[in-house]
Amino acid sequence: MKFGYFDNEKKEYVITRPDTPREWTNYLGSLEYGAIITNNAQGYSFVKSGASGRILRGRFNVPPTTAPGRYIYLRDMENGDFWSASWLPVKKDLSKYESVCRHGVLYTIISSRYDGIETETLYYVPLNALYEVWAIKVRNKSGRKRKISLFSYAEFTNEPNENQDLVNMQYTLFISRTYYKDNLIIQTINENYSELGRNIPQEKGISGRRFNRFFGVIGAEVVSFDGDRDVFIGNYRDYSNPIAVEKGKCSNSLNYGKNSCAGTQVILELDVDEEKEIIYVLGDGAEETGRKVMEKYKEKGKVEREWEELKRYWHSRIENFKVKTPDESFDSMIGIWNAYQCFITFFWSRAASMIYVGHRDGYGYRDTVQDIQGIIHLDPQSAKDRLRLMLAGQTSKGVALPLVFFDYEIKPNQGLSLDNPYYVKRTGYTEYRCDDHLWLYITTRQYVRETGDLAFLDEVIPYSDYGEDTVYEHLRKGILFSLSKLGKHGLTYGLDADWNDTLRLGEEGETVFASFQLYLALKIFAEFAEKKGKKEDLEWAEKEASKLYENLQRYAWEGDRFVRGFMGDEVIGSKNNSEASFWLNPQVWSVLSGVATSEQAKIVMDNVEKILNTDYGAMIMYPPVRTLGLPVFRMILFNPGMKENAGIFCHPQGWLIKAETMLGNGNRAYKYFQEINPANMNDKAEIREAEPYVHCQFVEGKDSPFHGRAHVHWLTGTASSVMVACVEGILGLQPDYEGLRIDPCVPSHWKEFYMERMFRGKRLKIKVENHSGFQKGVKKIIINGKEINDNFLPESEMKDENEVLVIMG
Ligand code: GLC
Repeated sequence: MKFGYFDNEKKEYVITRPDTPREWTNYLGSLEYGAIITNNAQGYSFVKSGASGRILRGRFNVPPTTAPGRYIYLRDMENGDFWSASWLPVKKDLSKYESVCRHGVLYTIISSRYDGIETETLYYVPLNALYEVWAIKVRNKSGRKRKISLFSYAEFTNEPNENQDLVNMQYTLFISRTYYKDNLIIQTINENYSELGRNIPQEKGISGRRFNRFFGVIGAEVVSFDGDRDVFIGNYRDYSNPIAVEKGKCSNSLNYGKNSCAGTQVILELDVDEEKEIIYVLGDGAEETGRKVMEKYKEKGKVEREWEELKRYWHSRIENFKVKTPDESFDSMIGIWNAYQCFITFFWSRAASMIYVGHRDGYGYRDTVQDIQGIIHLDPQSAKDRLRLMLAGQTSKGVALPLVFFDYEIKPNQGLSLDNPYYVKRTGYTEYRCDDHLWLYITTRQYVRETGDLAFLDEVIPYSDYGEDTVYEHLRKGILFSLSKLGKHGLTYGLDADWNDTLRLGEEGETVFASFQLYLALKIFAEFAEKKGKKEDLEWAEKEASKLYENLQRYAWEGDRFVRGFMGDEVIGSKNNSEASFWLNPQVWSVLSGVATSEQAKIVMDNVEKILNTDYGAMIMYPPVRTLGLPVFRMILFNPGMKENAGIFCHPQGWLIKAETMLGNGNRAYKYFQEINPANMNDKAEIREAEPYVHCQFVEGKDSPFHGRAHVHWLTGTASSVMVACVEGILGLQPDYEGLRIDPCVPSHWKEFYMERMFRGKRLKIKVENHSGFQKGVKKIIINGKEINDNFLPESEMKDENEVLVIMG
């Protein structure tokens, strides 16, 4: 079944019917004001932090009809019939009601048509603003004069702390109230707070100081309002039939000790074909701020201009990389949606979606260091800033904090580590993971190769606890930490987790996956040492790398697979095991790290295809665990086929694609891409259920009765791993210190494709010809008419604008 299509021209996904299998969502806003919206106008918003700055209430994991939203109701004042500008909440019969939702890059437009009345509502957060705008146009296409009331509905939290708002009602219901004056509803929280109270101890989690929110209406006079949710909705009613809308008038209520909302009514008299626009603004601030914001929107065309500006800003970032291949769905994803998703994961880590409720108030270390990789080619400066922040989250022992707070500042001697009770209490983490810091090597190299900014290695950055060092020394410390945690096979201990959160190997068990990563880290460090002329370091890193290589080959290779690890003398992921005997990541990382010989690589990758692959991607391991269990295999708690228990974890699919491209298997790499490509499931939405325009954390594996169903949308490392695999692997654009390598690995039926990319401020327009149907190999490159008999394009050959022709062969 199909619910929509990609409009690549406008960079939008268009949902043509509103009864999607799940809420199909989009993001509005920025790090200053974050907002999530569904195709039916539900969702929530917050200032700075989803955990402690919540403005609009979200209600999670409930049937969609019971969730609040950015609702606008319409009521025909002649016959009393009413509906909403999004299909929910009133949910009119779809044979009479039409709704189209256009999700764009940080804006959403929802249109409706019912009984001769058309609406179009644009939702967005202006650049650098602390408020959101809902701008609705109402058109009369009924051929007769109409009198239509518009009712707004926004449900405020009673406390910016999201958890307190939802669970501590004996307190939070009594600190908030609403006011109304001249088209503006104001909600206050703790309004009696004064500076005098600054030092009064607060109950845990309670915000304490004063907060204000405004909701203003521009374009018509508000004729009635409700600031009290229960009065607007009415007793024993719900969002689908609020009493105010049904009876055609709000009660001018104000909240005092219950729940606050912004219910307003305006009346529009519409001639035949006439269109009127009402603008609602909602955000953080008291009356004065609200009035100032309202004033801005009295200016004609303001919304259009802001929206254009917003689009220009975001589109230009995404357009730093353009692609046109024979596969339109590849282009929709890599050129638009995957790029957009990379920015969203970069912003929100794993904090705020319709699944992550916004509680987590920081960047998960390994996730974020990987998220950076997805935007390096689009926005190297933001990547660098975040990388700096993450390096500052590494302790002086070289291991990293599991979580770096959103409000973390880069400064020395903050004493943050797992030895600090404050950190432990705030995060709940008591143990380090073995892999967190290991992601720094790949990301740092990718950044330096993209920009040529080798000086970054000399930049001094503090540690999270004490002291500071250059980036280069940070990287050395990380390796030293890992080398101090090797087990009896000479491989790295798993500690609290390696990449797999459900594998708890502690200081007894060793992980082969993270050992491959450590090997690669040593190789990258050696590469940096060489660049810096540090011979001793180079030799040291090479020596440690070969020791590790020997151990991996001696202990982890079983002839047809690399095992997953060791727990004492027990082998995990061995062919002799009855469960979890074959794992994806060790096979793929044996290739990515360069440890696997070419024979080994062929054997393990063929086995991945044979044992793990399905129509929807390769499972993380197989068979699922059903009896081998805790405490090491925590994944046993997931139903077979779910998540880490033999689910198709999507994040590693990017690594799988990349590994196949390194081996020259363009057809297989592309097949793996297609299997997990959300756009490929556009017409099978009833199977995938999740949005066809974003990657999910996992797809249910073969042992689930719902094989192919996808979960945990938007915030996943899949965004960056697939992005990197496609841009560097399939399309073959591989920045290097002195230039750009172009080494595509494509399906043989791609005879021609086109890419446009910025590289160190220079534009490259690249056409690739593959008329003889190769999967890999470059015969020659012609740049601005000059032929180069290699696949490497030196920076010195690049002008500001460049025409590049790549002939595969
Ligand atoms: C989730 C986590 C990520 C972890 C993965 C595998 O995606 O966010 O950190 O690596 O699960 O367990």
